[in-house]
Amino acid sequence: MVSNQQSSDGPSVPASAEMVMSQRPVAPEEQGQAIPQDLPILPLQNTVVFPLTVVPLVVEEPRSVRLVDDAVVGDRMIALVAPRNPQVREVAPDDLYRMGTAATIHRLTRAPDGSLHIIVQGLERVAITEFTQSSPYMRARVEVVPDTMEETVHLEALARSATDLFGRLVNLASYLPQELVSGALDSSDPRQLAYMIATTTRMEISARQEILELDSVSDKLQKLVGILSHEVNVQELGKKIRSDAKSGMEKLQREYFLREQLKAIRRELGEEDEQAAEVGELRGKIESAGMPEEAKKEALRELDRLSKLPAAAAEYSVIRTYLGWMTDLPWQAITEDNLDIARARRVLDEDHYDLEQIKERIIEYLAVRKLRQERLARKVEEREPRDHIRREREGVILCFVGPPGVGKTSLGMSIARALGRKFIRQSLGGVHDEAEIRGHRRTYVGAMPGRIIQAIGRIATRNPVFMLDEIDKIGSDFRGDPASALLEVLDPEQNREFRDHYLDVPFDLSRVMFITTANVLDTVPAPLRDRMEVLHLSGYTEQEKALIAREYLIPRQIRENGLRPEEVSFEDDALRRIVREYTREAGVRELERQIGRVCRKLATQIAEGTPENTRLTPELVAQYLGKPIYFSEVAERTQIPGVATGLAWTSAGGDILFIEATKMKGERGFVVTGHVGDVMRESAQAALSYVRSKARDLNIDEDLFDKLDIHLHIPRGAIPKDGPSAGVTMATALASLLKELPVNPELGMTGEITLRGQVLPVGGIKEKVLAAHRAGLKAVCLPRHNDRDLEELPEDVRNEMEFILVDRVEQVFEAAFGNSEGKKSAKKQNEQGRPA
Ligand SMILES: Nc1ncnc2c1ncn2[C@@H]1O[C@H](COP(=O)(O)OP(=O)(O)OP(=O)(O)O)[C@@H](O)[C@H]1O
Ligand SMILES: [Mg+2]
Repeated sequence: MVSNQQSSDGPSVPASAEMVMSQRPVAPEEQGQAIPQDLPILPLQNTVVFPLTVVPLVVEEPRSVRLVDDAVVGDRMIALVAPRNPQVREVAPDDLYRMGTAATIHRLTRAPDGSLHIIVQGLERVAITEFTQSSPYMRARVEVVPDTMEETVHLEALARSATDLFGRLVNLASYLPQELVSGALDSSDPRQLAYMIATTTRMEISARQEILELDSVSDKLQKLVGILSHEVNVQELGKKIRSDAKSGMEKLQREYFLREQLKAIRRELGEEDEQAAEVGELRGKIESAGMPEEAKKEALRELDRLSKLPAAAAEYSVIRTYLGWMTDLPWQAITEDNLDIARARRVLDEDHYDLEQIKERIIEYLAVRKLRQERLARKVEEREPRDHIRREREGVILCFVGPPGVGKTSLGMSIARALGRKFIRQSLGGVHDEAEIRGHRRTYVGAMPGRIIQAIGRIATRNPVFMLDEIDKIGSDFRGDPASALLEVLDPEQNREFRDHYLDVPFDLSRVMFITTANVLDTVPAPLRDRMEVLHLSGYTEQEKALIAREYLIPRQIRENGLRPEEVSFEDDALRRIVREYTREAGVRELERQIGRVCRKLATQIAEGTPENTRLTPELVAQYLGKPIYFSEVAERTQIPGVATGLAWTSAGGDILFIEATKMKGERGFVVTGHVGDVMRESAQAALSYVRSKARDLNIDEDLFDKLDIHLHIPRGAIPKDGPSAGVTMATALASLLKELPVNPELGMTGEITLRGQVLPVGGIKEKVLAAHRAGLKAVCLPRHNDRDLEELPEDVRNEMEFILVDRVEQVFEAAFGNSEGKKSAKKQNEQGRPA
């Protein structure tokens, strides 16, 4: 078999191409050489030789060498035929196409290995009609098949497009030399053009054979144009891919290069790299922050990551912020405690009136600390092992419980002042999300430490007095349970190694003195309650309020409103009037506000130069504050039968509430309204049943119930009410309604009742009695078992009020109707109950 000297896929085709160029083919007619009818058949291997082309070939196969040898001594004429399957060696006649090209052998050189290098020139297409010999080489009878060509515009157009495309391809493809273009342009013969392009352009053998076999030159060119445009597209795409890859590389290299230059310039100018400077600074801070081992390791690890990132990376600022928090936290910073007990006592008294029990507890706390520190110091001197002492805990977590405005928060501040510690206050009201306590993991976008660590970071010492306000108002929902996170904060067993999600390293909270506050204890989760020492602060009496006002609130308001102490003096009655008619609260917050208003009015007058009178009388107060906001409504409300005054206990302290009953024509209907809970509703039912069962004893017509509907209403509908403690009040209201006797207007009552009329003890007595006192009631009915609670009451309240301790409802009725039954003194009493 014979192969093209340089495979058409090879890089060095130019040699063969040159040949095509340099030797202008000679038409057979020119040569005057006729093509014999019988020719030796030289099988080609990987190419097709076309007429009018000159091609170098290598002949290696002995059969073919013999053929060429024989031919060159004869007329040099052979037929070149391509195989149907180029893979087949030892081709037989059946393996060959039936059309080939007659050619003459131009030149022959013999290589040392015996192979022949020949140059052939294609002459005409020939079709094999019959093989006449197969050995030593094939011979066959052939017939010349001339190409057909019509000189039309179509042909010209095809020739131009082919030339054009070929030109583009030569420009793109490295395997085609530039000279080919001029060769193609030179060729005025479309047939020659077609064969030249078909020879040099890369394509399948089968495609070449197809071109050879097409009779019409137009068809040949048409086919070539298709092949060429495909090839041009492939080459263009390849070029684009290469240039894209190249430009990507170049950009990176360029940036790297510029950055290196920038560094060099900075160094030259003596400006150290900003990022390097920042990293250096952070490293210094980490080293000096006094972090424990684990924290330091984490911080240095992050610093290492930071130093490898470009400053513009988003990650950079995330890590930067983290390291900011880490280095700013007071890992070691501690303030010295002031353990001077006498001074502490003075400070506490300075800030708050009374609250003796609590102040005492705080003094105890200080005393214990003082003792422990002294002992510790002595042990150090004696070189005793200190480990167990060091592990001792900071101790108690105080929890102040009481109505608003009684001084819980300000007491916490006062403790901090007495101890000489810094004070932080963090409200937990409405905290639902565990992450607010414990932070978000750093993987979150915009993650931050939780409130505890934030506050510690802000205050910059690790032993502040930390007040967690309103722990009764933390919620829990799908975002986790903040109470359990809080537990870790407060539990002395765990808070030595408190792990905030954001920091992700332990921080020691054991030196923090935690104080919590709550209005009521019931909503504080039990495990939390368990870890705290609860101290109750109750509401103040009128007298206490007046005292607090005089000692603390008035001086403060005078100061805050730019007045001088000698410019303002409140008469006792004036103060009492503010307390009574302008406030109704357990604490003193509103009182302070009203005093503030009075002071501002006074300040305005002084500033205007028209100080009428700096001595504040009740009349002046009324003039400054306007119409009274509160007045004793008891007398008015209880004038008619069916209304009784109960005592309630809410998170705002104690309060009085009126229970109203009314009757209408109907048949045994009973409704209870006023945003009432289930327990209270059942309690109402029990009260009614009891009254009915005792109708006769109560002088009530038993048949009455069959003809009536009864409606029981507890006003102030917006406030939810529940609990059994209004039992006696509801029974009294019903009895009053049915007996058509008004209830003693100066009497308040509380207590749970059973169906049989027993009165059971209830909670919140102190707050309730204080509220009754505030409302101007003179007597209260209480369950006998609550008598112990009376001891907690302030002296003045105990003296001013009458307490009727009862076991049974009848005793309540007696107190309610006892002296008014049959008498007509109710009206007179009403008038006395009116506000002054
Ligand atoms: N016994 C007291 N002596 C002096 N001032 C007091 C006393 N009790 C309360 N006050 C003053 O009343 C104001 C309100 O008190 P504070 O803010 O501490 O109330 P609180 O109990 O924390 O209420 P809340 O439950 O609403 O947070 C403060 O200005 C405080 O100084
Ligand atoms: Mg408070």
